[in-house]
Amino acid sequence: MSQKNEQSAPERPDCFEGMFGRCPEMREVFALVRRIAPADCTVLVSGESGTGKEMIVRSIHRLSRRRDCPLLACDCTALAPTLLESELFGHVKGSFSGAIATKKGLFEIAHQGTLMLDEVANLSPEIQGKLLRVLETRRIRKVGETAEQEIDIRLIATTNRSLAEMVRVGDFRADLYYRLNVVPVSLPPLRDRPGDIPLLAMTFFEQFSRQMGLQTVGFSPEALRQLEIYPWPGNVRELRNIMERLAVLYGGVRVELQHLPAEIRQSRSIVSSTEIPVTWEDLKVQKRRMIQEMERQFLTSALERSSNNVTKAAEDVGMQRTNFHALLRAHKLKSDGLG
Ligand SMILES: Nc1ncnc2c1ncn2[C@@H]1O[C@H](COP(=O)(O)OP(=O)(O)OP(=O)(O)O)[C@@H](O)[C@H]1O
Ligand SMILES: [Mg+2]
Repeated sequence: MSQKNEQSAPERPDCFEGMFGRCPEMREVFALVRRIAPADCTVLVSGESGTGKEMIVRSIHRLSRRRDCPLLACDCTALAPTLLESELFGHVKGSFSGAIATKKGLFEIAHQGTLMLDEVANLSPEIQGKLLRVLETRRIRKVGETAEQEIDIRLIATTNRSLAEMVRVGDFRADLYYRLNVVPVSLPPLRDRPGDIPLLAMTFFEQFSRQMGLQTVGFSPEALRQLEIYPWPGNVRELRNIMERLAVLYGGVRVELQHLPAEIRQSRSIVSSTEIPVTWEDLKVQKRRMIQEMERQFLTSALERSSNNVTKAAEDVGMQRTNFHALLRAHKLKSDGLG
């Protein structure tokens, strides 16, 4: 394992290991990754789909002392539990029908490298137990074998669900959660870092245009504003795909509002331009009003979903029934959702 830095070209200040971001939240993530990468600790990377979890895992591996050894990925959603166990731990010939030869598992193949457990929230309770044992003993046993062997890997898990919440409702083992969550790295959804949208949009658009040998002219201010308003449910992946489409269709010309896909064009800001506060005092009043309105809609939609069953509504939104009731009273709402 070597310590040399592979990165030859100097990085832009808003780029870290091929990831772009200039907002404070992403800068913090990059600084954290730089600090933890050499430490060999288990890492839990969380974030919605498309926020860049895999890129973070790859950068941790690249900046670690394990960089010259393999980085392997295991998708915990793709296989049935028994197949997943054999994929991870390996099996000996004849240990189950279909085991026609002895096979190494990913824990063994990733020796001295990094193993990424992708979407770890989907592990069955049985495999959760086995994984906990691996993390505690650093040993594995192939399916059908009695002897154990030592392993030397760094484990990085990713999840797009809240493991803490899953632990709370009993769907994920608390002891495994603590073992995985040694260092948490949390990636914010793109809608919570609107300042990064123009940077990512321009970067991807330029990259795709260049690949096609086209000059990039950029975006009109209205088009750029609309990109910032859109909530990007698919996060950076969605943005990247849209930029590829735009570069194919409009590379070489300036991208205008009408060139944007309908779902982006039709997205509305929650604050219309006439409502933008003018003074600090206005802002405070508006903020209070918006929160009130949001709370009110939150309550009525929770009641609607639960067919006006307050106990169920409170449970669904993760609130104590008494607190939910108090909030209903504060908004002068009855359990039928009407004031
Ligand atoms: N900050 C970023 N800078 C540049 N590209 C990014 C960034 N974040 C994500 N991407 C790109 O977005 C796409 C999705 O990233 P990635 O696969 O890492 O996300 P993910 O969180 O693992 O998604 P999923 O939960 O669906 O597996 C990739 O094409 C990746 O290159
Ligand atoms: Mg991923």
